Amino acid sequence: MSIVVSGIRPTGRLHLGNYFGAIRNFLRLQNEHTCYFFIADYHSLTTHPTPHDLAGNVLNVLAEFIGCGLDPDKATIYIQSDLPETLELYLFFNMNAYLGELMRVTTFKEKARKQPHNVNAGLLTYPTLMAADILIHKGEKVPVGKDQEQHLEMTRNFAQRFNRMYGVEYFPEPVAFNFEGELVKVPGLDGSGKMGKSEGEHNAIFLTDDDKTIEKKIMRAVTDAGPTQMNQPPSPPVANLFALMAIVSAPETVEYFKEQHATCKIRYGEMKKQLAKDMITFITPIRENIFSVQNNRDFLIKIVRQGREKAKASAQKTIKEVREIIGFKTW
Ligand code: TRP
Repeated sequence: MSIVVSGIRPTGRLHLGNYFGAIRNFLRLQNEHTCYFFIADYHSLTTHPTPHDLAGNVLNVLAEFIGCGLDPDKATIYIQSDLPETLELYLFFNMNAYLGELMRVTTFKEKARKQPHNVNAGLLTYPTLMAADILIHKGEKVPVGKDQEQHLEMTRNFAQRFNRMYGVEYFPEPVAFNFEGELVKVPGLDGSGKMGKSEGEHNAIFLTDDDKTIEKKIMRAVTDAGPTQMNQPPSPPVANLFALMAIVSAPETVEYFKEQHATCKIRYGEMKKQLAKDMITFITPIRENIFSVQNNRDFLIKIVRQGREKAKASAQKTIKEVREIIGFKTW
């Protein structure tokens, strides 16, 4: 049993890509490890300093987590801002984090380029806050994608530096962790790459999309003019549709349309209709779960409180020990 920690920023609704990326990993991990999953609302202020409805967004994401099957009795599921202990650790890490190393972080440089009018200190110290999130529970494994690898490397640096500076072997050095065979790439509908919300409203299928919306998005998905030669490999946008089909349709269905493509008989309209039907079958139970959780506010609040209590117990222990290690004393 390892200690697993991961966070998700509450910046929008979850889509199918999130489901097959983060969520499915979490669902397995919660059965096998001591897990802390949180909603990173502090972090969201680095890019959205004046959110319209912060608390509401956080509750929505929480409902989506629970609707997908995250179990508050197995994992500790909490809201980042319910744990101000994290901020004390963030302060300690910031005291030993250097401007040079923080400025070299790729995500910082990208964000600074994207929001030149708001290159704030929170953005610069995003990696020290993330390190505090993980190390407040002495996390060992962190289920995140490739884009977070540099942040994890910084987390290891801060942990190691703390241990060295104060002459202790206190913090572990956390590593990225995913179930390899389980990682499924989910392409978007615009014919290019990954499913993501930044690529536009119609590129992603959200877990809360209704049937009509799903159908419309799939029927509008980019394809090509059709195969012209026997056994020609599908073009990238058509390969994307086959990849989506492989996720939600029966193997025989995928085989049937592959055959149709290979023999140049394929009608993309027919394939999309089938894909839409199977996608709806896949999404419907998840969506209904999410809605029923969203509509049960008392249940959600109970989960928030339960998560906060469990997370606090772990965080307070760490902070007490860290203060002692550094040399603070409560007289
Ligand atoms: N940076 C992560 C992301 O954008 C979110 C995050 C914040 C996180 N704190 C974390 C992930 C701690 C894992 C562990 O996806």
